[in-house]
Amino acid sequence: MATTHESAARGTAQVLVASNRGPVSYEVREDGSLHAKRGGGGLVSGLSAIGPDAGALWVCSALTDGDREAVARGVGEEGVRMLPVPADVHADAYNGIANSVLWFVHHLLYQTPLEPVFDAEFRRQWAAYETYNRAFAQALAQEAAQGAAVLVQDYHLCLVPGMLRELRPDLRISHFSHTPWAPVDYFGLLPDDIREQLLTGMLGADRLGFLTRRWADAFSACCTEFAGGTGKTRVGVHGLGADGEFLRERSHRPDVEERMAALRAEIGEGRKAIVRVDRTELSKNIVRGLLAYRQLLDDHPEWRERVVHVAFAYPSRQDLAVYRDYMAEVQRVTQEINSAYGTPDWTPVLLNLKDDFARSLAAYRLADVALVNPIRDGMNLVAKEVPVVSDEGCALVLSREAGAYWELRDDAIVVNPYDVLETARALHEGLTMKPQERAERTGRLSAAATALPPARWFLDQLNALREPQPS
Ligand code: G6P
Repeated sequence: MATTHESAARGTAQVLVASNRGPVSYEVREDGSLHAKRGGGGLVSGLSAIGPDAGALWVCSALTDGDREAVARGVGEEGVRMLPVPADVHADAYNGIANSVLWFVHHLLYQTPLEPVFDAEFRRQWAAYETYNRAFAQALAQEAAQGAAVLVQDYHLCLVPGMLRELRPDLRISHFSHTPWAPVDYFGLLPDDIREQLLTGMLGADRLGFLTRRWADAFSACCTEFAGGTGKTRVGVHGLGADGEFLRERSHRPDVEERMAALRAEIGEGRKAIVRVDRTELSKNIVRGLLAYRQLLDDHPEWRERVVHVAFAYPSRQDLAVYRDYMAEVQRVTQEINSAYGTPDWTPVLLNLKDDFARSLAAYRLADVALVNPIRDGMNLVAKEVPVVSDEGCALVLSREAGAYWELRDDAIVVNPYDVLETARALHEGLTMKPQERAERTGRLSAAATALPPARWFLDQLNALREPQPS
């Protein structure tokens, strides 16, 4: 038992979550006041499942100038501690390492003839990644009560479990990867010492979580190859599902109904809709999706003027040039298709770049075909959300490289994301699927998609972490 002195030196939080992006972010208004914006997502609803009295604390990083200003002014939300990581350290850790190296490694994104290049600049950024991870480890060590459970999230914070374990051996620590994990040969691109630091950092946890068995096995294989195995750390699989209850309610509010009417008018009477909704990440494969759609119009001219591709490509990580270039390429190919095939009253591709959740839900409801074709994806929640929300059933064209494939493959039309001809055939198959079959498949997809809602996903991990360790 801890003495009074010891527990006073420690924190009081019983359950701690650590992630780069927190549940709230601040904006400085013109009059100098701070405006708080609350975010959604699986973690937010998962954490709410343990209730307000559970002694939970969310430790996250200040990301914007508004966030840093909030920390400086002592403005904050109950249950959230935002770390005032200096902007340059954060940029090197987040843009430089997390998004330009770790994200690339796990999603197999390098064009290897020229990249990656691990040079002095990389080492400088790596030092920032260590500093940033250490800031989290120290804050968590300070806030956690004796024996508390700490749930660390994602590739931004791979070093935290090991660092925290050294500071506080009494804690129960887990780490969850929301991304895929790289195959051994690809992970092997990283310098030897960095590889080892990442793996031993994560193996500082009692328990590691992944979205599918495939990613968990890839991690274990990397440990066998580069770290002499996973040691005492347990590895588990928790496939985050869609929040059915929330989605059904949210998608029938008046703002969604309004957007449905507008979207129907834009698509045009009697036309079918192929819908995709993504943050414009390099792994989402939006350009090949457009090429497949163009192929469909070539292979099946009967679809011209009778179908519209509604593509939502929301901006993401625009600080990085390669993301901006990718977004520009999506726009360029869209324009190319629209000018080559469009007619005075038919625009083949409707591209939406402005983030509008209600409009995405409207598109989910009316889609005839949903296109989810990432080259690699930890899970992909769009594939799970569409069947839940769809009004009359929607055919799902799904990449075999998405984590969701393992749960949805029986009722999806499965494609190799690199094969544009196959994807075009899958779109045609989706468009011509009989209404009854479409509705039946959608019902089964929806059941599979909601099997592990965020609240249970989170509680399962917490309970597993608290189970006594086999000695
Ligand atoms: C994707 C990934 C998550 C990751 C998130 C970060 O959604 O699936 O694993 O945490 O991106 O996004 P951000 O906008 O914070 O870079």
